[in-house]
Amino acid sequence: MAMTGKAYQKCINPDCATELDCASVTGGFKCPQCGSLLDVRYNWDKIETPDKLSDFAERWAARDNPLNFSGVWRFRNLLDFCDDKYKVTIGEGQTILQQNDAVAGYADMQPGRLYLQYEGLNPSGSFKDNGMAAAFSHAKMVGAKSSACASTGNTSASVALYAHSCGLKCTVFIGSGRIAFGKLSQAMDYAAQTIQIRGDFDDCMKQVQDVCIRLGLYLLNSLNPFRLEGQKTIMYRIIEQLGWRVPDWIVVPGGNLGNSSAFGKAFGELKALGLIERIPRMAIINATGADTLNDLVNNKKLVWNAGRVDQSIIDDYYADLTARNFSPHTCASAIEISRPVNLKKCLRAIDICDGVVRAVTDEEICDAKAVIGADGLGCEPASAATIAGLRHLRAEGVIAADQTVACVLTGHPLKDPNLTVNYHKEKQGQFSNPPIEAPNDLEEIIRLIQS
Ligand code: F0G
Repeated sequence: MAMTGKAYQKCINPDCATELDCASVTGGFKCPQCGSLLDVRYNWDKIETPDKLSDFAERWAARDNPLNFSGVWRFRNLLDFCDDKYKVTIGEGQTILQQNDAVAGYADMQPGRLYLQYEGLNPSGSFKDNGMAAAFSHAKMVGAKSSACASTGNTSASVALYAHSCGLKCTVFIGSGRIAFGKLSQAMDYAAQTIQIRGDFDDCMKQVQDVCIRLGLYLLNSLNPFRLEGQKTIMYRIIEQLGWRVPDWIVVPGGNLGNSSAFGKAFGELKALGLIERIPRMAIINATGADTLNDLVNNKKLVWNAGRVDQSIIDDYYADLTARNFSPHTCASAIEISRPVNLKKCLRAIDICDGVVRAVTDEEICDAKAVIGADGLGCEPASAATIAGLRHLRAEGVIAADQTVACVLTGHPLKDPNLTVNYHKEKQGQFSNPPIEAPNDLEEIIRLIQS
């Protein structure tokens, strides 16, 4: 029996299906009955949904209202879980979808078919701001005073920025030595209490959940289902920028698997509401040094199975990681995660979107990043996994050269300057563009420029 308000939370385990109202934050966003993930669900008959997606265009014409200017709240009817008075925005979601033929060529796509969704243009420089606008609105709705997250860097930057803009304290947990410099500088600059744990992201993730429950802090990792509601809007904006059409494929990096989960949910809802005619396929790209999803899906054949996921496969896999004392390693530190918290929701997204998973090497990531930098607006390493993955899928013939593909570039190039400088200066790859050393001499400088 569904709850009666506009929105409520529901356990994703079909054998439990516990429902909670939106104000409940017991159990740190895990089902209090069975410990599974929670979804935000809607009673759509109580919500004013548009007849067609293009109706949202009117909001853009009235963008002097900050909620219309926000690339998240412009679509507020599709994430209607709180009153306008609680809604938080600092101008997130002013991101662009760039058609890029040079990068298309690198990925062996036909001209005009590849689009790059630049989420690095958000206020804190990553897609996380979409989620934080929604999650901090929920935090205000439930009267939270203090917040916390574990992070490979971008979540902490975004949490720090949003927490202080809406008057919450924040504590961020990061792994020692595993965070890119740009991101670490943001956490400190935005005045977060920063706790560097001796361990990796997965250790931080475990600690922060316990700390949140013990101290009553509001948790902002993607376990928080309200955060994922904000991340759905990345897909709405891609559709918006394609003239309200859906692409054939969405390609996204896979870390903690919040984005892929949110995107699958977004498309499932749009289809059920009759707002799109078909659901695009989705490719989720791991780094080979942190490829739990790839391994579980492609080798262990783990599937959603209508919500009855074979837990023993996951348990065995994680027991083996523990026995081997495994810690993930990739230069794409944002996705250096081996126990993704949204694994099951991601399996559901793969089911909804007829998804595929691939893993790419650090070398492929760095080369793709250099191409996106040279020919596009640039991105951080994890984001470039999308183009590296697309090349695999083109070579395999899974994606055709004339299909329309949108790759989500999740973070800004300045997030990880060290990796970029090393790649170029140390001539680490085929696209390295090292600075040329020149004497302080005009004729010699001119000779070098012309050589
Ligand atoms: N790309 C970037 C730039 C990220 O920062 C992350 C995740 C991902 C991709 C992976 O997204 O978790 O939704 O699969 N960063 C998190 C953090 C874990 O703490 O900043 P996901």
